[in-house]
Amino acid sequence: MKPLGSSKKTVLQKLKKFRKQNQRYEDGKILCSMCTKPHPIAEKAYNMFLSTNLGDPGLFPGCVRLEEEVVDQLAMLLHGENCKGFIVSGGTEANLMALLAARNMTKISQPEVILPESAHFSLSKICRMLNLKPVYAALDSAFRVKVSAVEKSVTLNTVAIIGTAGTAELGAIDPIDGLAEIASKNNLYLHVDAAFGGLIIPFLPNPPKFDFNLTTVQSITVDPHKMGMAAIPAGGIIFRNNQAVDYLKTETPYLTDHYQHTFVGTRTGASVASAWAVFNHIGIEGYQKIVRDCMRNTAILSKGLTNAGFKLVTKPTLNIVAFSSQNTKTTAENLRKKGWFVSYIPRYDCIRVVVMPHVKKREVIAFLRDTC
Ligand SMILES: Cc1ncc(COP(=O)(O)O)c(C=O)c1O
Repeated sequence: MKPLGSSKKTVLQKLKKFRKQNQRYEDGKILCSMCTKPHPIAEKAYNMFLSTNLGDPGLFPGCVRLEEEVVDQLAMLLHGENCKGFIVSGGTEANLMALLAARNMTKISQPEVILPESAHFSLSKICRMLNLKPVYAALDSAFRVKVSAVEKSVTLNTVAIIGTAGTAELGAIDPIDGLAEIASKNNLYLHVDAAFGGLIIPFLPNPPKFDFNLTTVQSITVDPHKMGMAAIPAGGIIFRNNQAVDYLKTETPYLTDHYQHTFVGTRTGASVASAWAVFNHIGIEGYQKIVRDCMRNTAILSKGLTNAGFKLVTKPTLNIVAFSSQNTKTTAENLRKKGWFVSYIPRYDCIRVVVMPHVKKREVIAFLRDTC
């Protein structure tokens, strides 16, 4: 189609039509997403910084400062001190940066990475891109990686171990402390993919150890655009210190700064501003409340499903409920016909619901009515 040079009014009317075709988080029917409607202050902040570019930081020192503050706040939450990090396009880019650094830190010619069978699919993409051999370790009955399986997989070619704190499919948290011991014994890089869980686990009443408190954790993915309520794109990669970051350096001869560390070149400061705005507006107490509400709704959903005879794949650790019926695929199709967007997960033959902040108690009750 040729762009026609239409009036502003026509263009906006047409855009509204396109927008109408989209699902909206606020309608409460999206139960399959790990993103949510950004907090209103995130939207405002985003618009304020729309034309900024952190790819050319010398022009936008205010955004550089904002990014440093967001990284410091995330690091503090994850018990890090003097960390270095970036707000990037998402968990995929964050994981990519961690593995790129881990690989570049060694001189191994046929590098391998040990990751749980439950690792996010972004990691298999990344292994292909970086020419890393993925070595998958088996899970235990709670869908957490078996520490003994990871230990057995270590070879002279291993460059990194990955654990997940909040798997995308079931919300399981790997025993990161066990992985930290293996990393320490074998002098290996340990990366924690907490893209989803990183902004939930710290707000739980008795959080398991998964962060920089464990001294061999070298980097953590933690995404403000998931449970952080920031606007997309806002992934986060936090490195324990500068050591790994140095291995990501690329020369940028014609820009205001002569080096870049992120994979993406031109990147918006608007996401950073949106994350900063939410953190500094709602603060720790705000997140605690969001997590409390999500976990309460998760409990209502799990109980309702169990009472109606559905089988939970596992007891929810985070705000993800996975369940099966006699004929799970048909149940999923019926729910779709009733307007619900749920995920069907073939690996576990289950339906998965992510109880994000836009999924209120009212929606949980309506969903149970349509399911049971
Ligand atoms: C655990 C985990 N890691 C990585 C990702 C990838 O994040 P993104 O889609 O923001 O690139 C996701 C996405 O849901 C995830 O849940």
